[in-house]
Amino acid sequence: MKHFLSLKDFEKNEILEMIALAQSIKSDFQAKRPTPLLKNQILAMIFEKNSTRTRVSFESGIYQLGGTGIFLSSNDIQLSRGEPIKDTARVVGSMVDMVMIRTFAHSRLEEFAHYSPVPVINGLSDSFHPVQLMADYLTMLECGFDLENNKPKVAYIGDGNNIAHSWLMLASKLGFDLNIATPPGYEVDAEILSLAQQFASKSQANISITNNPQEAVEHCNVVTTDTWSSMGQESEKQIRKQAFQGFMVDTQLMQLASQDAIFLHCLPAYRGEEVSDEVLESQASKVFLEAENRLHAQKGIMVYLANNTKDNNV
Ligand code: CP
Ligand code: NVA
Repeated sequence: MKHFLSLKDFEKNEILEMIALAQSIKSDFQAKRPTPLLKNQILAMIFEKNSTRTRVSFESGIYQLGGTGIFLSSNDIQLSRGEPIKDTARVVGSMVDMVMIRTFAHSRLEEFAHYSPVPVINGLSDSFHPVQLMADYLTMLECGFDLENNKPKVAYIGDGNNIAHSWLMLASKLGFDLNIATPPGYEVDAEILSLAQQFASKSQANISITNNPQEAVEHCNVVTTDTWSSMGQESEKQIRKQAFQGFMVDTQLMQLASQDAIFLHCLPAYRGEEVSDEVLESQASKVFLEAENRLHAQKGIMVYLANNTKDNNV
């Protein structure tokens, strides 16, 4: 059985297969052709953190595929009263066909998956946000980038967080170049970086790490960032705001990238911090297409997992 916890567990061809499924389901959706590929399937969605995009896209996505979603806020279920994750995994997994979880430590997700009898999807952990990166790649393709003729060269500016880690996985698996600029002390996790470097040596991706945003964006055709304080880091907000001075993606920084560079952001965005209002609202900004693509990318992932799970009744 396949889970979708991090892109590190997938080969390039598997990632591309999920993207191809997403593209085909998206074109059916746009042509108003129904895609009941997960008819009568039930997706449980456990949220231990807030969400707008992830919740709406998974719940709409499973419905549009012919199934149903069950939204479980951790406040409302026994998990928040101390029921062990391994018990929750076995109980919920015995009643539904797939589970999506948004949680804190990545190890919680791994433990859930270990005990789950059905595929588990990472809807964001402290370490990774892989469903977001699948939508980002779909967006890059739609903006004219591809791995053969017009390779993306990506600059990630900001915190060395779950989004930065997922960019490391995507770039190193697919084989495109990635520059990451973080303030000192907010670098990406060393183990995840070393894993990415291993994958990059096979895929020929160039991964570079710096503390200089201007240097990072040079020659890049995709510029991206994320919040300086992720969910769970609210108490560090002021300290981080200080530490990240000079790391805002503004028009001046965008001008140092390639002329045709696009801007991506997983959202929610904090205007005036990691990105200026002007950049977010500019022609180069593809953030709303990127958000919409969550719906389509995740349909591709869910159908792929169902197809690769024995005993599924699809
Ligand atoms: N990008 C993203 O995952 O957004 P939400 O937190 O709103 O789900
Ligand atoms: N890094 C952010 C992403 C939100 C979608 C967080 O974890 O809060």
